[in-house]
Amino acid sequence: MDAFQELSDWLADWQGGTRADGEATRADVSATILAMAQACREISRLIETGPLAGAPDDGGHAAVVGENAGGDQQKALDLRAHDIVIEALKTAPVAVVGSEEADEPILLSEDAAIAVAVDPLDGSSNIDVNMSIGTIFSLLPHAAGKPQASLLRPGTEQLAAGYAIYGPMTELVLTLGSGTHVFVLDRHGHFRLTGSDLAIDPRTSEFAINASNYRHWDEAIRAYIDDCLSGAEGSRGRDFNMRWIGSLVAEASRILTRGGVFLYPGDQRRGYGEGRLRLVYEANPIALLIEQAGGAASTGAGRILDLVPDNLHQRVPLVFGSRGEVERVEHYTTDPHSIGDRSPLFGRRGLFRA
Ligand code: F6P
Repeated sequence: MDAFQELSDWLADWQGGTRADGEATRADVSATILAMAQACREISRLIETGPLAGAPDDGGHAAVVGENAGGDQQKALDLRAHDIVIEALKTAPVAVVGSEEADEPILLSEDAAIAVAVDPLDGSSNIDVNMSIGTIFSLLPHAAGKPQASLLRPGTEQLAAGYAIYGPMTELVLTLGSGTHVFVLDRHGHFRLTGSDLAIDPRTSEFAINASNYRHWDEAIRAYIDDCLSGAEGSRGRDFNMRWIGSLVAEASRILTRGGVFLYPGDQRRGYGEGRLRLVYEANPIALLIEQAGGAASTGAGRILDLVPDNLHQRVPLVFGSRGEVERVEHYTTDPHSIGDRSPLFGRRGLFRA
């Protein structure tokens, strides 16, 4: 393999004309990935310019311009990124696109082989503070005449999944269903392979959760976090570190690089019973990337990739990362006795509780 092989060459090597799942050929998958890479390149360039992309008083990329189907604020960059992705996918064999920024699926070419689910700009609360944000995508086989159903397949049927992260480097993290690989955008606009077959350490001492929601979580999640916070003196017998960036792609990149566990559980807040993240265009692609790197992705009660979505914008509780930690959360969630049995601290109040 060439050092720093270019994405198009890498895909050409993979291609070879054999069929992927369903009716889509590897050529269809490759062409769609290259179109997404083109969109990510454009979005990356746009982000780099920050406020310089517009007029001094137009509010920049972070200006609030509307609300999406899920009730989230839409920033100017959300919509710009959505438009860039749609234009790029028109050049690929894509039948339909399900985007976070559009209430309904967008039909492109009825006879084409691929359906794409996409979050064009993930982590948009980080735009104006110059922190990492991204684009997440999932490729599914398109069933002729069934654009909606094509997008509502379980994550196990994904042909490919990936995200771009716009951070100090722009990276494209990709799986075609066999291994998870990283490409870095160079100064000439080429994505070049910098890491193959990532492997997440099954054990970790780092967790990521929005701890401000502690009082809204159920007992199992509180117990898991209490145990991490108890550190060397608690049932885990070692100290844990915490990180929370508020950007799913940034948390995923950290976990793919050095292990860790991410949790966005359901909680008691209105509208958060199923957490915050979207199954079809956030949890499923991240879950495939994580599993292909040896990690696990769960609702806390079962595997993300086995869920059959019932709507494009459905939310799902998401726990992913180092396999041992994800299994521990599942254990606490699915077996109430495990919380009581877990430590001599049982019966004491949690560390955040009075
Ligand atoms: O897509 C939603 C998102 O921005 C994710 O990127 C991130 O993980 C999460 O929301 C942050 O949520 P909160 O602001 O509730 O911590």
